[in-house]
Amino acid sequence: MDITVIGTGFVGVVSASVYASLGHSVYGLDVSEEKIKKLEQGKVPFFEPGLDALVQKMIAAKSLQFTTSYKHAIQHASVIVIAVGTPSAPDGQADLSYVMQSAESLAPFLKENAIVAVKSTVPPGTCQKVRQVIQQHCPHSQYFVVSLPEFLREGSAVEDTLHPDRVVIGATEDFAIDVLKKLHTPLSDTILVMTPESAQMAKYSANAYLATRITFINQIANLCEANGANILEVIQAIGQDRRIGTHYWYPGLGYGGSCFPKDVKELAAYARSVSMEDNLMVTISRLNEERIPKIVARLRKQLGGFEGKTIGILGLSFKPNTDDIREAPSTKIIPFFLHEGAKVLGHDPLAKEVARSYFRDTILVEDDKASVLANADCVCVLVEWDEYSTMNPQEIVKLMKKGAVLFDARDQWKKTDFTGLPIQYVGIGV
Ligand code: UDX
Repeated sequence: MDITVIGTGFVGVVSASVYASLGHSVYGLDVSEEKIKKLEQGKVPFFEPGLDALVQKMIAAKSLQFTTSYKHAIQHASVIVIAVGTPSAPDGQADLSYVMQSAESLAPFLKENAIVAVKSTVPPGTCQKVRQVIQQHCPHSQYFVVSLPEFLREGSAVEDTLHPDRVVIGATEDFAIDVLKKLHTPLSDTILVMTPESAQMAKYSANAYLATRITFINQIANLCEANGANILEVIQAIGQDRRIGTHYWYPGLGYGGSCFPKDVKELAAYARSVSMEDNLMVTISRLNEERIPKIVARLRKQLGGFEGKTIGILGLSFKPNTDDIREAPSTKIIPFFLHEGAKVLGHDPLAKEVARSYFRDTILVEDDKASVLANADCVCVLVEWDEYSTMNPQEIVKLMKKGAVLFDARDQWKKTDFTGLPIQYVGIGV
């Protein structure tokens, strides 16, 4: 099958290379010549485990090509996947302009019976809008517009796409459903067909639910801090209830990354647009944003202010196994320290270069975590990278200044491991 994926960000490159690995002939299309030039040489402009190798293998097999030409990439395609960004507009709703631009640009070259699948995260009603735009620029009316939401996680995007928990197809026409089912059958036994609106709601709801779960456990962690309970023991106990489970609710500095903060706000804005002014998502988003200032207040008290102090940050990415720092805790907590007169040293196993260009010369990104541990008055371990969590407490304390604060934002160690050692341990909900 000839497939074109529009947009060469995370979702686009992963989807294109996975479709190619199934034996299809795939084009990755983007308006950025710079990105396409790199991708043509097999260079993926971001880190994702296994993706470089897969892209290079598919290029060598001639199953995957990249282009900036709509005509070239669309005229033979049976399935066109739109995977461009949908940043939040100022009112919090999804800004659909890249989706609509893609629809307008592809329309003149669309062959008959082609399927345009919207993979970008978009609110209900978007497929109709895409159809209207295509209608204005396409010489015929024999095409399909469907929803094909994406559920992959960064850091395991290739694995998630090769072995998804489910594939959701939001379509009503049998032809489109059959083609998309055939395309995804090698990837999953669970292919769910529903209306485009249900598919779009499924995508937003999945992310909003997970974000709610994280926000809930962070709230419970706050209460544990107030009364001496230990959040990890609480999670263990409630998790035994099979309806609840122990997975996916580790407390921390709040959810970050390119999806949850944006998707929760977009769902909140969508709810407002249909007259649900006072909705849960508004509260979740606000609580998540309040999380870092509250933790900063706790550290400020512990350190007696940040003026003249050196703060070390271990973990600059938004989570392990990625160099993505979008909405990372580091990007939100560091400005507080700098603003209040501290010097900041940072380290990350993978995101050093990305962080250096983001923070410029406001912080010093060290190549070696030992320099951060040795020179800081307060070391904040923000991300659960293996490189940090495998260090034992004695090893950490040996490197740190006497009396310094160790802020363990992911509860990677136990508070009791540091009893009697010459540092002050601060965890979350313990
Ligand atoms: C998420 C969804 O998991 C994925 O299904 C969707 O397609 C895109 O958004 P991603 O943003 O890659 O994926 O990261 P994820 O691993 O889900 O983590 C999101 C945020 O929640 C991170 O900031 C992470 O640190 C935080 N988190 C996650 C917690 O604070 N506690 C947890 O238990 C899990």
